[in-house]
Amino acid sequence: MTTFHALTVANIEPETAEAVEITFAVPEALARDYAWRPGQHLTLKARINGEELRRCYSICRAPRAGEISVAVKSIEGGRFSGYALRELQPGASLEVMVPQGNFGYRPDPAVRGDYLAIAAGSGITPMLAIIEATLATEPESRFTLIYGNRSTDSMMFRQALADLKDRWPQRLQLLWIFSQESTESALFHGRIDGQKLHALGEQLLDFSRFDRAFICGPQAMMEQASAALVELGMAPDTINIEHFNTPGTGGPRRTAGAAQGTRVTVRQDGHQRQIVLAAEDESILDAALRQGADLPYACKGGVCATCKCRVLQGEVEMAVNYSLEPDQLAAGYILSCQALPKGDGLVVDFDV
Ligand code: FES
Repeated sequence: MTTFHALTVANIEPETAEAVEITFAVPEALARDYAWRPGQHLTLKARINGEELRRCYSICRAPRAGEISVAVKSIEGGRFSGYALRELQPGASLEVMVPQGNFGYRPDPAVRGDYLAIAAGSGITPMLAIIEATLATEPESRFTLIYGNRSTDSMMFRQALADLKDRWPQRLQLLWIFSQESTESALFHGRIDGQKLHALGEQLLDFSRFDRAFICGPQAMMEQASAALVELGMAPDTINIEHFNTPGTGGPRRTAGAAQGTRVTVRQDGHQRQIVLAAEDESILDAALRQGADLPYACKGGVCATCKCRVLQGEVEMAVNYSLEPDQLAAGYILSCQALPKGDGLVVDFDV
């Protein structure tokens, strides 16, 4: 279910000059709805200057009773992040969707793992939750974090990571990489890219020992890092990439298929309605929203999977897909924000 509930902001904690951690109180009655797996995200909804805005933010803490936290980093011209950093106050109420997302890890006390996390900038957010939950739940497991930033001042969760290191000094290894701050060794200066990981592989880390890797940050960093990890001995299916921060694609681009005026049947909440595409590159989601449907969505960029539905009849093409797994695609799931029908007669279901 992709339901929104009004949650009260319990606390807002500055992380850096341009990022805050927002903690929501979760009432007992909603505890099951807001149970989450480390690595998942929340979609926040607010009306700002008369316009409804939705934004996804990674949950930044390991699961705990009665509260749930996300980190919001300011982006230039960002209307929602500007509101969150400058106007939002404890005690306010925000519409918060129940946790979503495929990225992450479900720790298992019976597992003994050696894990790697690679994060740049705000990509640390889901990693903090994954690292804390894993070390707390798997007493024999270890984590190594490679975390890239401009400088110490721009690091998010510096104190939280130091606290985790104090708690598990033998099982957590932290490596900082700074691009605009001098470091004792050239190894820790620069950006996280393929070259940097190869240098770390030569001088410090045996990457082939890791059972699983998690990567989150700018797209180019994630692509280079995952390629380098394979070159350094990790199996591709042990590398998990979080495309969460990928900028929106601006919607689908048609390569073939139906034209303006194509009809699609949309099922939701046990009802069905016919929608009509207004343009040949209008997504099913946008067409349905324009015609009054109240469908779930957040990023509109193919990364959060909030808009997923299932094709019951017909075919679609998707511009991008950063979130559905192969087994979900095989079961007929699509991202409605990225989907264009291939001809008339398409039927999609949001109730599955
Ligand atoms: S709204 Fe996020 S993938 Fe479609």
